[in-house]
Amino acid sequence: MIGHRSPGARRQARVWVAVAALLCSEALCAQSADSAELAAKGRQIYALSCSRCHGPNMVSVGTAAYDLRRFPLDQKDRFVNSVTKGLRVMPAWGGLLSPEQVEALWAYIASAPRQ
Ligand code: HEC
Repeated sequence: MIGHRSPGARRQARVWVAVAALLCSEALCAQSADSAELAAKGRQIYALSCSRCHGPNMVSVGTAAYDLRRFPLDQKDRFVNSVTKGLRVMPAWGGLLSPEQVEALWAYIASAPRQ
């Protein structure tokens, strides 16, 4: 079968490979590398500031704290708001964490498999 493909089809396939490689390096892959780096930063902040209530690696240890692996990913504003200003028993972090750090936490939480 392989030997029977027309040169035109093969050329077209090569173009698609080139386009895919370009897209990958310029946009998609660069972006996912960035968000992986951000998530890694978020993981460190989480370990220091959040894990004592929300559990190591977001696995809730049966405290009253919210299981962050269930946090709806389409509600980023709610996340930023709750983390920055606090919510009932949950302390406010706005004075301790910069917006960039809250962003990194969000990347970390969004990177966890949903439960
Ligand atoms: C002192 C314990 C404690 C620490 C530390 C803590 N949390 Fe919480 N968190 C809670 C509790 C308790 C709740 C549930 C609040 C409620 O619904 O009454 C909560 C809820 C949340 C929610 C859900 C808010 C919502 O809108 O429903 C998010 C998101 C969250 N925490 C993120 C974090 C992050 C990120 C950190 C680290 C910067 C953190 N928490 C540190 C106790 C804590």
